[in-house]
Amino acid sequence: QQPMRVAMVGLGTVGSGVIKILFEQAERITRRAGRPIVVESVVVRDPTKVRSVNLADDLIDTAIDVIEHPDVDVVCELIGGTTTAGDIVRQALQAGKHVVTANKALLCEQGDELFQLARELKRAIGFEAAVAGGVPIIEAVSQSLSANQITSLEGILNGTSNFILTEMLDRNVSYEDAVAKAQKKGYAEADPAMDVDGTDAAQKLTLLAQLAFGTKADLKQFPRQGIDKLDLADLKYADTLGYRIKLLAVARLADGSLELHTQPTLIRKYQPMADVDDAYNMIELEGDAVGKTWFSGMGAGQMPTASAVVSDLIDLAVGRAQKTFPLLDLWQSQKPLPILPAD
Ligand code: NDP
Ligand code: HSE
Repeated sequence: QQPMRVAMVGLGTVGSGVIKILFEQAERITRRAGRPIVVESVVVRDPTKVRSVNLADDLIDTAIDVIEHPDVDVVCELIGGTTTAGDIVRQALQAGKHVVTANKALLCEQGDELFQLARELKRAIGFEAAVAGGVPIIEAVSQSLSANQITSLEGILNGTSNFILTEMLDRNVSYEDAVAKAQKKGYAEADPAMDVDGTDAAQKLTLLAQLAFGTKADLKQFPRQGIDKLDLADLKYADTLGYRIKLLAVARLADGSLELHTQPTLIRKYQPMADVDDAYNMIELEGDAVGKTWFSGMGAGQMPTASAVVSDLIDLAVGRAQKTFPLLDLWQSQKPLPILPAD
């Protein structure tokens, strides 16, 4: 069988997890993909860094241009940020490669342009890992629930914030120490302010809302709060009243408009969403035919996120590469809903 050859850009938390799965589970992945998935090259910033995975020296590179090599079929963008990452995705598509990315910041900022380019060049962009880590929510919203008009989606979309809230209330850890722990565990963004001020959750919300409602919102168009203004006293007071505070991201239809927000929210204890701890995420989706459905699992971290990246690679290997095109048609065919203004 002709192998599918992958160039990876980024070998940090997620990239190393992808390598672990591809190397340690090669036999199973080959069976599922119908052919071997081979790592052709791995681009990093600092080739002297000690890594958690052992790679032959000749696999590691620092020159982005290796992604254009004729043997490469797919480029995995796993560096984060939007400027270089955007250039890499464009360069890969223009060189005829499919792309897999976990980068919600990039897709939130430049997704329309990148998906349009992919369509013109008949290439795919897999992005299951960009929302809720290992939870297959992109597949659910865009494929499995496509018979429905989604009427609302709400959930915990930032693992770092949820981890910090859990550490503070349940383990008496200070806010600063909890942030440091989230960084050490590989949950946090390169700039953890994006996690705690609600930006990361809002970026993911705009991606889900675009899939569910066909409407692209700019982050400036809706209210966004994070957990950075919460004190332990707030969490304890809510607890005594029988509530948990969770950072919820919400998108719902309201009289023909789309209401969006991210904010710390009181949830009555023992509700499923209140019991989501650590870096777990949960999304409640309501559709007109299916009713309410819930999706939950690890929303951040090495192996759960790598699980989603490798699933996208397997999809490409088995030839489901076209699956992002109907998405684009969906976005373009729907009349954008007005977004309720932030007041
Ligand atoms: P890390 O910071 O752990 O890793 C980033 C990697 O990118 C490093 O290997 C770094 O190289 C490399 N890199 C950075 N800039 C460049 C560059 N200009 N050229 C070449 N290589 C570069 O990030 P994560 O793995 O945590 O995150 C990667 C992406 O996945 C981000 O978009 C993030 O939002 C997303 N994501 C992360 C999750 C998580 O739990 N961590 C979950 C879901 C999505 P070097 O090692 O040499 O410094
Ligand atoms: N920093 C993100 C989070 C990673 O904590 O949810 C997963 O997207």
